[in-house]
Amino acid sequence: MTSHPNVWYPFTPIEGMATPLKVVGGRGARVVLEDGRELLDCISSWWVTLHGHGHPAIADAIHAQALELEHVIFAGFTHEPAERLAEALADMLPGDLSRVFFSDDGSTAVEVALKMAYQYWVNRSESRQTFLAFEGAYHGDTVGAMSVGAESAFTGVFGELLFDVERLPFPSTWIGDEGAPEREAEVLETLRARLAATDRPVAGVIAEPLVQGAGGMRMCRADFLRGVRAATAEAGTLLILDEVMTGFGRTGARFACERAGVAPDLICLSKGLTGGFLPLAVTVASERVYQAFVSREAAKTFWHGHSYTANPLGCAAALASLELLRENAEAFQGMEAHHRAFLARLDPALTERPRVTGTIAAFDVRTRGTGGYFDDIGDEIKRRTVDKGLLLRPLGSTLYLMPPYCVTDEEREQMYAGVLGLVRDVMS
Ligand SMILES: Cc1ncc(COP(=O)(O)O)c(C=O)c1O
Repeated sequence: MTSHPNVWYPFTPIEGMATPLKVVGGRGARVVLEDGRELLDCISSWWVTLHGHGHPAIADAIHAQALELEHVIFAGFTHEPAERLAEALADMLPGDLSRVFFSDDGSTAVEVALKMAYQYWVNRSESRQTFLAFEGAYHGDTVGAMSVGAESAFTGVFGELLFDVERLPFPSTWIGDEGAPEREAEVLETLRARLAATDRPVAGVIAEPLVQGAGGMRMCRADFLRGVRAATAEAGTLLILDEVMTGFGRTGARFACERAGVAPDLICLSKGLTGGFLPLAVTVASERVYQAFVSREAAKTFWHGHSYTANPLGCAAALASLELLRENAEAFQGMEAHHRAFLARLDPALTERPRVTGTIAAFDVRTRGTGGYFDDIGDEIKRRTVDKGLLLRPLGSTLYLMPPYCVTDEEREQMYAGVLGLVRDVMS
């Protein structure tokens, strides 16, 4: 078997590529392969599946909506599913995040936030052009999102195309780490000093709140996020929180900002928005940001949109998913305790930096290689996962778990036992 001759797969070197496994179905926390084997989806398929594969409530909502209205242009026209979803999100989100702008995926949600933040200052006739971002960040693969992401092998080739961004260290922490408050204080001092400098005024600070995802599931304390919010508020600059991964229960609360008790000026949401059924994203702006665009002037208008903006099927899926999230809140609220008990079972001689935030658990394998994303140990682990009946995709030497919320007690134990076995196997 080889890979399909007409498909160009993402994030995959073409030469030497392993044949992708063909998936023919999905139910609950499991996907079914062409040969009948079942894999437990320990990472919610790139962090999107919330309530399980093939959830009938979401499937039915999409079906019913498709029979009414599958799509319509969203400029000069509007529709009930988009309006209801915008209302529901505004009700759930902290502060006065209430102006919902639709797009298609996490990267475009970030592009929209960056463009809004930039134009916010232009509309107010203030020149603020610099963005601050965090080392190790990942915000997506479009050009703006890459610019605010960490410099890496993913973005290196496009270096000259990206706009300049200033970066701050990310004070990552883990269970048993006592150095976090000191590291955080240093970063916050640097941030405050930078925001006070008047020569290159800062348009906005962008962060993945509590957990940096693709950068290695690096976690920080809620205290740090509160410090970043306080510093940006004092300086009057905008805070953009990219909750594309952390939104909709992933951190044990509905949103990471809710868990930390902060409200940003702009928030980016996607991935779990539709429960993993359809691509849809939103950038939600605070009243302060929105008011800067209230004008008849073309120059003050936000000229941005996509063909599938506010697709009614996506909105219907999102509304059904939000209802499930409300009904089953204990499932995402309770997962941290299980993860914590699992992390305590890891052998510290083989692993380090165990960490957990809500439904996301991670640790690093004590590799003899380079560590990080391109450590070969990641591929070695990947090769063995299917035999353990698990769908896992390590970030190099970082192994993480982020299962759908519907995972049963039995499945959770299969996942934990499988990972403990995998670590022993690759380290023996
Ligand atoms: C925090 C964060 N922002 C943005 C993105 C980009 O989202 P998408 O892959 O839907 O474009 C991701 C994707 O992993 C992400 O984790």
